[in-house]
Amino acid sequence: GLDTSKLLSSTGQVALDIGFMNTAACTSAITYIDGDAGILRYRGYPIDQLAEQSSFLEVTYLLIYGELPTADELGAFDQRIRRHTLLHEDLKQFFKGFPRDAHPMPVLSSAVSALSTFYQDSLDPFDEEQVEISTLRLLAKLPTIAAYAYKKSVGQPFLYPDNSCGLVENFLRMTFGFPAEPYDQDPDLVKALDRLFVLHADHEQNCSTSTVRLVGSSQANLFASVSAGINALFGPLHGGANQSVLEMLEAIQADGGDIPRFVERVKNKEPGVKLMGFGHRVYKNYDPRAAIVKSTADTVLDKLGGNNELLDLARQLEEIALSDDYFIQRKLYPNVDFYTGLIYRAMGFPTRMFTVLFALGRLPGWIAQWREMIADPATRIGRPRQLYTGETERSFVPLEKR
Ligand code: ACO
Repeated sequence: GLDTSKLLSSTGQVALDIGFMNTAACTSAITYIDGDAGILRYRGYPIDQLAEQSSFLEVTYLLIYGELPTADELGAFDQRIRRHTLLHEDLKQFFKGFPRDAHPMPVLSSAVSALSTFYQDSLDPFDEEQVEISTLRLLAKLPTIAAYAYKKSVGQPFLYPDNSCGLVENFLRMTFGFPAEPYDQDPDLVKALDRLFVLHADHEQNCSTSTVRLVGSSQANLFASVSAGINALFGPLHGGANQSVLEMLEAIQADGGDIPRFVERVKNKEPGVKLMGFGHRVYKNYDPRAAIVKSTADTVLDKLGGNNELLDLARQLEEIALSDDYFIQRKLYPNVDFYTGLIYRAMGFPTRMFTVLFALGRLPGWIAQWREMIADPATRIGRPRQLYTGETERSFVPLEKR
């Protein structure tokens, strides 16, 4: 019932594209996706090669600066990040103010937002040096903030970062270690988490990245923009999906493991019942990241002895869905988060931390996209149009006459 004559505005034709199904809002040279062919590349490099041969730090450099670093460049980048891992003691106090059962995602976004109060002298988006220092601060401090959000939720003491460790190791140590006690790193676990971060590092104009760009287009600083991205990621249709997948598997398990019954409920579109971890706006084929995550899940769960019953349920669910007409017709395949929750659980993370792990992985993408947007002379403030469907003009009725 829309009046299409309203599609003409003062600036010409307006396209109505709910959910931006067909509208590009920017140009970008960072990530390439071909959703039909199931292809994902960062700066031209295929995701499987990066997952296999690269590291999260290297991919972070690649996404932000556009090229793979030399050994010297990578070493210098690593050292610069390590110098910024500490949080200001006053910022540490913030964590005390949240209720103990606070979800760690809003804790994360609040702390990132608060960074702009601690570094007020370096927030100018058009000063390259200030952007660089904000980039390093954010990359270095988000793992510390994430670990503190976890420690807060379990009532354990915070650990200061140990800058003899790399980024992922330091995060695991601050999360699972105890002050004054040695923490034995499991190199396989570090490698697996590093690889999952690589897989999450960028995904072009997804909901959270578009949010970072939209907020940043008003020339809001990097911390403010990324904080908004974290809130967008919190939603169950985006980053919250990894938490929802595990909750779904547990619910199926509690229901006696009756997968066909669950699939029927999904197909009947019972309110709130979706096959979480399936489907993607862009991929209409197997998500290339999901295949790598699936093989990582096999390795990690074998090694750590995670919940193999849930893994079996996930595998059966995938098999049944992939051979069912409902899913075939709609081109619904597992996405990156169908198996990640199982790995995170086996590593010892509580379900509520899963989306925080996604945020840690996605950070380089948000930063790279924000910097590309700021540096692009074509950028204008993001300001979508609308189609007004409300009342036409009417006269005000005083309160006593209503
Ligand atoms: N389970 C059951 N049916 C689904 C699912 C699903 N997971 N996903 C899509 N469908 C159905 C829809 O009901 C719709 O059916 P219809 O044509 O009969 O109405 C059809 O497939 C098309 O789906 P849309 O919702 O229009 O697709 P859209 O691109 O808007 O949504 C999304 C994509 C949000 C990812 C969706 O597939 C979904 O909700 N998946 C589950 C949540 C999830 O896993 N999110 C993570 C995404 S990846 C990420 O952020 C890392």
